[in-house]
Amino acid sequence: MNSPRIELSAPDITEKEIQAVTEVLRSGKLSLGPRLAEFEEAVKSLTGAKYAVAVNSGTSGLFLCLKAMGIAPGDEVITTPFTFIASVNVILQVGAKPVFVDIHPDYLNMNPDLIEEQITSNTKAIEAVHAFGNPWGIDEVQRIARSRDLLLIEDSCEAIGTVYKNIPAGMFGDAGFFAFYPNKQITTGEGGIIITNNELLADICRSLRNQGRSPNAGWLSHERVGYNFRLSDINCALGTAQLSRFEEIKQKRAQAAGKYIEKLNSDKRLIMPELPEDCNFSWFVFVVRLTEDYSLKQRNELLDMLRSEGVCASNYFPPVHLQPFIKAPLGIKEGCFPVTESVSSRTVALPFYSSLRDEQIDFVCEKLSLCLDRLYL
Ligand SMILES: Cc1ncc(COP(=O)(O)O)c(C=O)c1O
Repeated sequence: MNSPRIELSAPDITEKEIQAVTEVLRSGKLSLGPRLAEFEEAVKSLTGAKYAVAVNSGTSGLFLCLKAMGIAPGDEVITTPFTFIASVNVILQVGAKPVFVDIHPDYLNMNPDLIEEQITSNTKAIEAVHAFGNPWGIDEVQRIARSRDLLLIEDSCEAIGTVYKNIPAGMFGDAGFFAFYPNKQITTGEGGIIITNNELLADICRSLRNQGRSPNAGWLSHERVGYNFRLSDINCALGTAQLSRFEEIKQKRAQAAGKYIEKLNSDKRLIMPELPEDCNFSWFVFVVRLTEDYSLKQRNELLDMLRSEGVCASNYFPPVHLQPFIKAPLGIKEGCFPVTESVSSRTVALPFYSSLRDEQIDFVCEKLSLCLDRLYL
């Protein structure tokens, strides 16, 4: 008999989603049809945003925000080195310079106390990322952006459905965006969406995603250099079906996280995720950290051991600033962002999805404890 293997993530797909997608296929209207507007409306009602522009990935969402804001060569964008690579790649793709700010050791987002010293006459925007969906610090970042007349872009790819201090994640900035890869809280297969209260920004993003077309002119009338970043009606129908089950999915994920915390909280070798106060949290991943007694090498050994025991685990996130193509051109040295480097070397993302059963969580925790026992100190 094969030993069980527990995946790192899994989408939550029911007959409802299958039916919604099948209906689109039968309708013959596969793109720019009624499902696109329906999906955008559903995201607007979840977040309270005035405008939503669906695109084919979270990365495309960020790219269009930066383009629509006019961020270009010569501009600097302040961001975190503790994120998924796309957050920073896109700054480089528009020709701007990423300027990193180290993270808070407990909450893992940019430390707002360190932002002001990085602002120069070239700074155009702050791109805040909610690492693992945690919005901690965004209110303070918003205050800094406003007081220094900087644009604020919220990379909320991992935070859909989180409400912090009564404001939905994605709504603190001039624009926010979500991602819908199948490891996210909800999926469209691939996809993303921009949210904003700025009508002009939304109009530009809508034009940019559709080959630079103007909304009221013909198919072959283009008013700017554009892209094909459209999200098909097939993806949108899947997204709307997922959103109709959002509370159920959010709750199941919260239960799984609660169960992990209950099982692992007393293990002194581990640091549990830290959530801020006044936060209705939508869990994206479950990432524990090893204490500072452990090295990067030991963490990596632990990941290998877990995988060989059938538990898929990952090292979310290696420091972005140490990726060779970022480190060398920006002249960054190892040790520049010590908190990020220290945290990154000790994270362990455990299997996490809404249909994770209690006995699977028991299995993961048992294997984690066993593998930790086997790690030398
Ligand atoms: C923080 C963050 N930003 C951006 C992205 C990019 O989203 P996508 O993979 O849909 O392009 C992701 C995706 O995982 C992410 O986690």
